[in-house]
Amino acid sequence: MTVPVLLVLVHDASGVVSVERRDPRAPQVSILDLGVTRGDGIFESIGVVDGRPQALEPHLTRLARSAAMLDLPEPDRDVWRAAVLQSIDLAGDETAGRELLAKLVLTRGIEGGDAPTGWVYLYDAGAYDSEREGGIRVVTLDRGYRSDVAQTSPWLLAGAKTLSYAVNKAALREAARRGADDVVFVSTDGIVLEGPNSSVIALIDGVHVTTPPELGVLEGTTQHAFFADVEAHGGKTAYRPLTVDELRSADALWLASSGRQIAPVTSLDGVDVAQDARLTGPALASLLAR
Ligand SMILES: Cc1ncc(COP(=O)(O)O)c(C=O)c1O
Repeated sequence: MTVPVLLVLVHDASGVVSVERRDPRAPQVSILDLGVTRGDGIFESIGVVDGRPQALEPHLTRLARSAAMLDLPEPDRDVWRAAVLQSIDLAGDETAGRELLAKLVLTRGIEGGDAPTGWVYLYDAGAYDSEREGGIRVVTLDRGYRSDVAQTSPWLLAGAKTLSYAVNKAALREAARRGADDVVFVSTDGIVLEGPNSSVIALIDGVHVTTPPELGVLEGTTQHAFFADVEAHGGKTAYRPLTVDELRSADALWLASSGRQIAPVTSLDGVDVAQDARLTGPALASLLAR
């Protein structure tokens, strides 16, 4: 068994000095690493389907954007790209017919040090069939800030993919307590934001709609690919603020993310929402074929 594959990007203050294959089952990160002790770092999760990394360049762009927002050193795009491709190469035949995830992590490094910590970890994505086919029950939860937070309080890092996902995990536990599978965060001024690990897409009056990134949500690579597919088939897409009422009365609703791709939402806050299996099946097939 080759998967999981771990490549550590060894840094000094001036950047990556080497890419080293390491044993993913052995300890590799210091207990003094700020990624561990403060969640002070960033990550990306890239779907790898049948050996093909999905939306690799958009993920690298988002990694760079997150790094800039956290004042981390700029990731060397070519080195990170090469490391992702090398991890897939190393997995070899084990990528065939499988869904894997490449997780890219960059932390601020050891407290008091001057070099970040980075790695690429390629692992089995697990099974998503039940969510993709059977759908998910979703609850709305208050995110606790306004939809203009990215402008008013940039230090809250809305829209950066940071390692500080304790809040996102807590929200998912709250969803489970409420008998649901996932969450849609809503701003204090009533605007639909995103899931803890996903973008929200609603079909409203024939238009696929999602929340604009300016409202402090992550720019979703899967949502982007879904919209490109809709447009390629002559459909309409839009980025605009959505209300929860609009989600409730949407003609179909999905959560989109790397790995799971898209999952149709079957209920929102315990009330059934419309679904359109004629759209979900082909959209999922097209996302997996990328
Ligand atoms: C908060 C948040 N929003 C949106 C997404 C969807 O992004 P992508 O489709 O690029 O995975 C993610 C993905 O992990 C996420 O964590």
